[in-house]
Amino acid sequence: MFDRVLITSGPTVEPIDPVRYISNRSSGKTGFHIANEAKKRNISEIIFITGPTCYLPSEVRCIKVETAMEMRARVFENIENVSVVIMVAAVSDYKTPTYFPHKIKKNSEKMTLELEKNPDILLEIGIKKKDNQILVGFAAETENIFENGKRKLAEKNMDLLVLNEISKSNPGFNVDTNEVYFLTPGEIKKLPRMNKSDIAVNVWDKIFDIARDKKIYERQF
Ligand code: PMT
Repeated sequence: MFDRVLITSGPTVEPIDPVRYISNRSSGKTGFHIANEAKKRNISEIIFITGPTCYLPSEVRCIKVETAMEMRARVFENIENVSVVIMVAAVSDYKTPTYFPHKIKKNSEKMTLELEKNPDILLEIGIKKKDNQILVGFAAETENIFENGKRKLAEKNMDLLVLNEISKSNPGFNVDTNEVYFLTPGEIKKLPRMNKSDIAVNVWDKIFDIARDKKIYERQF
């Protein structure tokens, strides 16, 4: 059994002005089920760091954040001695460099919004990953899914990537079911469409398999 796991969930929200923001369609449902499944497996400490969502697991330490920068700060404050990190969150790739303190007025026909890249939290965790840690990421892709997925798996030093192909027939975001692939170094496995609670069961089963293969916590199996 793992002692301490860290799960991120939901979207991040990048404010533009007091009434507008950049975000995405993540509901937080997947992260919620991943945390609940961790509870069922008697993991003693679950750290749940989430962007704005109403899907908050009970009896779990929930840390609420808004922006990618806040999520990054809370992740690195809590990552010490964590055995498994599962980055379910759909982190905004970009943010506005300037926050406009007043509502932007619609004075011109066109306007350009400057954006700058957010740090990649998972990439940073991957660089610092220890041999006895397991790193799981999720990815939402709409094209060249395996090429992009394999690149992310390697670049971010993940042990498992849960890959969703986002399409009309599989929206992935804010629905109750999903069709995902498990990418590990050297293997791609397709899972049938299932409820997100069942995806969580499969993700945790796979994490325990990886722990066994990596001979992590051998005494506990
Ligand atoms: O919340 P739901 O409605 O249930 O939807 C679930 C989901 C579709 C959000 C989930 O299944 C999912 O795919 N989450 C990851 C979406 C995403 O951000 O994919 P990505 O390819 O942009 O990022 C890949 C990985 O890098 C992710 O683990 C992400 O957390 C991480 N990342 C990305 C950008 C960034 N700046 N920092 C990161 O850590």
